[in-house]
Amino acid sequence: MSLYSCSGTPQLLGMTLCNRRLLLYISLLLLTWLPWTQGRDVKPVKEKYLPDYTVYHNLTQVGAHIQELAQKFPAYLRLDTNYRSRKGRPQYVLRVSNFSGSYSIQHSTEVGLTPVKARILLAYGEHAREFFPVESMFHLLLNLTGGLTAPEGSHSRAYTSEILSKIDLFIVGIVNPDGRQYVEQTKNYCWRGTSTGVDLNRNFDWQFGGPGSSGDPEDEEYRGAAAFSEPECFVLTDLVTKFQFDAFLSLHSGTRDIYLPFSDSQSKQEQRKPKNLADQMRLAKLLSDSMVPEFQHGIGYELNQYTADGTSFDYMAGVKELPFSLAVEMWGDRDSPSKRCFDLFNPPNKDLQNALDEVQPLYETLFSYLSYWKERQAHSPFGVIEEPSMSFMYFCLAMTVLFVVFVCMHRHLPSSLRAFPKRRVISINRLWMMWRD
Ligand SMILES: *[C@@H]1O[C@H](CO)[C@@H](O)[C@H](O)[C@H]1NC(C)=O
Ligand SMILES: *[C@@H]1O[C@H](CO)[C@@H](O)[C@H](O)[C@H]1NC(C)=O
Ligand SMILES: *[C@@H]1O[C@H](CO)[C@@H](O)[C@H](O)[C@H]1NC(C)=O
Ligand SMILES: [Zn+2]
Repeated sequence: MSLYSCSGTPQLLGMTLCNRRLLLYISLLLLTWLPWTQGRDVKPVKEKYLPDYTVYHNLTQVGAHIQELAQKFPAYLRLDTNYRSRKGRPQYVLRVSNFSGSYSIQHSTEVGLTPVKARILLAYGEHAREFFPVESMFHLLLNLTGGLTAPEGSHSRAYTSEILSKIDLFIVGIVNPDGRQYVEQTKNYCWRGTSTGVDLNRNFDWQFGGPGSSGDPEDEEYRGAAAFSEPECFVLTDLVTKFQFDAFLSLHSGTRDIYLPFSDSQSKQEQRKPKNLADQMRLAKLLSDSMVPEFQHGIGYELNQYTADGTSFDYMAGVKELPFSLAVEMWGDRDSPSKRCFDLFNPPNKDLQNALDEVQPLYETLFSYLSYWKERQAHSPFGVIEEPSMSFMYFCLAMTVLFVVFVCMHRHLPSSLRAFPKRRVISINRLWMMWRD
């Protein structure tokens, strides 16, 4: 009683000083709780609108539709259902290309027959509640296959022919089908994780365990017990080990941003930059500019207030060193007030088609830039990366200096060490004398 006794304290605005202190404690306590209660957990909320499964695909329809397309166009689409989630659901790996056409550019023999199709890996549905990217995958597939049945000589036909001849596209249709199943079954549209509540995009072996993730299983950014604890990661790590990809894109919704590597806490501290930064930035800018209004783009840790540790796209850049690795947030409006969950990541049913049409230029730009980039690579004498880097220039400079030093010092070396021990040196003087004689 004595410790918190308030008797005899002066009155201020009708409130004792002690009351005000109590109020302060309470509000401080509330403040520390706020991050918990605000969107960090994965409890369901009362939604503003819900998906209509005659407009959006549900998980059953996702599988059925992919299978139907693969069966219809076997010369251009190959489906692999062997990659599976923890609960054994297929993740639907679809390879899209013209498998009979071996596209090679004219001068490819000069540098040996390098494969000149740009090879791209697109990952959809890592986060359970983000339906929109999965829908955009269907939009893309319908666009490409639509061209196959379009009349000979039509624009759509020519467009598809060109893309399929220049691009070797791998699609992981739904990386996290268990999470999607959970969302549909429980109608908890705030659910982001796998069946065990792990955020797959914090479970990759790149800066795993950093502060840009959570160790709390109740948190929506729960990273899991260890890197790659979730079997759902395997499809991406395995594909990238078996095939040499030029580009990886991890597709999300919630905002309208394009992130370059890196997004982790350590990289932010070191200001670490990814390889091939200039070209990656060029691509990100082109992609952003193709959108109306344009997307934000930039290095993850620069664009975002928060960092993210253990993401798939940082892993593809940092560990696998792909020339391009981006995270694309395709839809959202972070400024809109009173967002719940489904509406934070997905447009209303009636606006879906329009929103899909609006993001289609992302793919168009991606394919045209990467096929152009790939051709330039094939033409470049070094085969790999574009402009000579600064370190290459320094290397050339150092070699030149060494060469000059070697030539100058050469005749001072003992004859056993000289490159040309018996070389006759004719001095300018003697030449001069010979000419005079
Ligand atoms: C998926 O959607 C279809 C079409 O609306 C519906 O017939 C089917 O029952 C749904 N499946 C599940 C598992 O919800
Ligand atoms: C695929 O490639 C083959 C062989 O080059 C070609 O004949 C065919 O027209 C191509 N298909 C499309 C849709 O362009
Ligand atoms: C696919 O998209 C391209 C570019 O946006 C467009 O030119 C083409 O007509 C579309 N094809 C179909 C079948 O819709
Ligand atoms: Zn996401």
